[in-house]
Amino acid sequence: MSFITDNDVQAAVQRGIEVITTYQNESGAYPACEEFSAYRGYCWLRDGSFIADAMSRQGAVVSATNFHDWCNRAMANLKGQVTELLVKARSGVKPAQSDMLPTRFTFDGEIGGDPWWDFQLDGYGTWLWAVHTHAARHNLPLEQWKIGIQVAAEYLLEFWDTPCYDWWEEHDECQHNSTLGAIYAGLKACAASAVLAPELRSRADTTADTIRNTILTRGVASGNYISKWIGTEAVDASTLSCIVPFGVLALDDQLAGATLERIEQELCVNNGTHRFAADVFYGGGQWPLLSCFLGWNHARAGRRDRARELLNWAISQADENGFVPEQVDQQLLHPAQQAEWIAKWGAVAKPLLWSHAMILTLASELGITAGKNNNQ
Ligand code: BGC
Repeated sequence: MSFITDNDVQAAVQRGIEVITTYQNESGAYPACEEFSAYRGYCWLRDGSFIADAMSRQGAVVSATNFHDWCNRAMANLKGQVTELLVKARSGVKPAQSDMLPTRFTFDGEIGGDPWWDFQLDGYGTWLWAVHTHAARHNLPLEQWKIGIQVAAEYLLEFWDTPCYDWWEEHDECQHNSTLGAIYAGLKACAASAVLAPELRSRADTTADTIRNTILTRGVASGNYISKWIGTEAVDASTLSCIVPFGVLALDDQLAGATLERIEQELCVNNGTHRFAADVFYGGGQWPLLSCFLGWNHARAGRRDRARELLNWAISQADENGFVPEQVDQQLLHPAQQAEWIAKWGAVAKPLLWSHAMILTLASELGITAGKNNNQ
């Protein structure tokens, strides 16, 4: 890795903003990666919410607002479905997975015809967190997103305790700590803002506390760290989000420190971060966006040099066009499994907008912005 200067970081931030702006659909949706067949034509709530937060931090306020408007419309269209789900659940009938809300949407806010590992709850929590954070950061009225906020909150309040696929769209039989963390943050944000009715806000607050308690009791492995899901000893880099940004644990909490250390030791090799030890997707490479999550945690804890090393590594994974992929293959965990994914879906997704977004986020955390007005 060659030496990365502040100017290089600033250029990577500027490039990331350009890439995200270029690909943002006119509807407001952020595509995950238009150059990758399996993702083409879809926006994930998880990726999109982190992308919107990154753009919001870097001053691209209109871009983030357009995304939140798009989410609000998509969720308003789901209002009837949520009402039916609530009636069903409250009458004691467990809804089928296929009745639940989608993980990803087409750009016109529809579910789309391609099958996916649907039923993931984290994106709805992450969106609630991101829209509240955006409004607070730029002093915008939350009322404009009220319908979407209400639909997402009512849905999560009813179903937060249901096992579902995780950030990596795997293991729908489990309850994943990163999913619970996202829901916690989304509900706490609703509880603290004035947009919902007092009764809903109060339920959001107490349910968030129950979720936190669930993570801190059932989500802790015997070695005293937050595990990948309830009932395993395995670690997963996505659980970093339970500390920063979702705030289930404070940075100076011993459990937070132990979780971070475990992820550093088991999943980070030469600054590149794996998702989890058993990851076979494209052979199990290192994800720039996860090195940025790790760096984000270190930066907030005051370890800026460590954070900068991780940011430098993530930036160095860009190709000659400045495009950053989903993962890189310098250190595969399961190399024998790489070829089957290339045969199935082609080369690794690039540019992955979420990867660019996390570089923007960590750079802003370290005080580096694009240095020009990106608010078109
Ligand atoms: C990842 C998800 C991501 C999706 C779109 C999947 O391969 O596992 O976390 O949301 O790609 O980027």
